Amino acid sequence: MSPMQISVTPNPAPVDDARLAEVLAAPGFGTHFTDHMLTVEWTPERGWHDARVTPYGPLTLDPATAVLHYAQETFEGMKAYRHADGSVWTFRPEENAARMARSSHRLALPVLDPADFVQCVDALVEVDQRWVPDAEGEKSLYLRPFMFASEAFLGVRPAQHVTFMVIASPAGAYFKGGVKPVSLWLTEEYTRAGRGGMGAAKTGGNYASSLVAQQEATAHGCDQVVFLDAQEGRYVEELGGMNMYFLFDDGRIVTPETGTILEGITRASIIELAGKLGHPVEERRFSIDEWRDGVASGAIREVFACGTAAVVTPVGTLKHAGGEVAAPAGTGEAGGELTRRIRQALVDVQYGRAEDAFGWMHRVV
Ligand code: PLP
Ligand code: COI
Repeated sequence: MSPMQISVTPNPAPVDDARLAEVLAAPGFGTHFTDHMLTVEWTPERGWHDARVTPYGPLTLDPATAVLHYAQETFEGMKAYRHADGSVWTFRPEENAARMARSSHRLALPVLDPADFVQCVDALVEVDQRWVPDAEGEKSLYLRPFMFASEAFLGVRPAQHVTFMVIASPAGAYFKGGVKPVSLWLTEEYTRAGRGGMGAAKTGGNYASSLVAQQEATAHGCDQVVFLDAQEGRYVEELGGMNMYFLFDDGRIVTPETGTILEGITRASIIELAGKLGHPVEERRFSIDEWRDGVASGAIREVFACGTAAVVTPVGTLKHAGGEVAAPAGTGEAGGELTRRIRQALVDVQYGRAEDAFGWMHRVV
């Protein structure tokens, strides 16, 4: 298939160098946006068309725009990393493209061809390449591709006009205070996903549904919320925006199986990296009792969570209505030893400091 034609209209008033340097010195997460954005439209008659990079700016939406009412939407989260030689790379972008295709299928949205997805992301990163921070402090350019029902129509059916966009935002650490164990709140009232639901799709509704549970976590003094399966309320699923891992004293790692959780690209990568480091990973159901008993007996050494935005984050205490599960014995100030090794192995590949043995990196600039 021939590549997509993408027009570029440069921003006539890009952020000046002094201001850009200020932003890149302390980017935070999701607050500053680059000079441009990418947009592609879809209709049943024309398919995907009118791909363009234009100056970043607000959208004008009809109040009847379907996404505002029925949340027919999917999104992705990925990052561009600057290597020491100045080159810019993304991490397994074809996996984000494939996941968006799966999410789109679940949300009855049209599928954007994975090659076109990667080309669109590359086009924006190339135009806004000066926004990719230096590797120092593990900064990156967070990329947010998203697709939404842009038809102005209140009937409940798949939209006949869909818009795909990519925006970009320089990012520092997702959690303030650097790498240190996060505390979790176990919600027993709310669930994230049921059988046949949208748990495996990256769609806004899942995040909307997580917010009240996250509020509950905050009210209990915890950093993040952990969800259990909807059917039995026994099996650990994932956090609001991260997948989970449990390291046992015999070197095994367990991560909850997929189906109702979001299939993280970091998750899949860590399964491969951990294997290479000599730690076999079991993907299976993992009950809250196994967590509690494993920490009590010392069989569980470390717990950690991972995702694109938060990378690899050590998990400390788990609180629930009936009490508390302490941080596992292997949890240090900056997390457990293996958690740190896995984190390092991953970021070293992403920042080009280690050999890319799995062929994960994709050069953009
Ligand atoms: N689970 C949820 C609910 C998420 O939002 C994310 C974030 O992207 C993840 C897991 C981790 O996925 P990935 O590693 O692809 O970023
Ligand atoms: C990500 O890690 O990319 C996420 O999507 C998590 C959150 C920012 C939604």
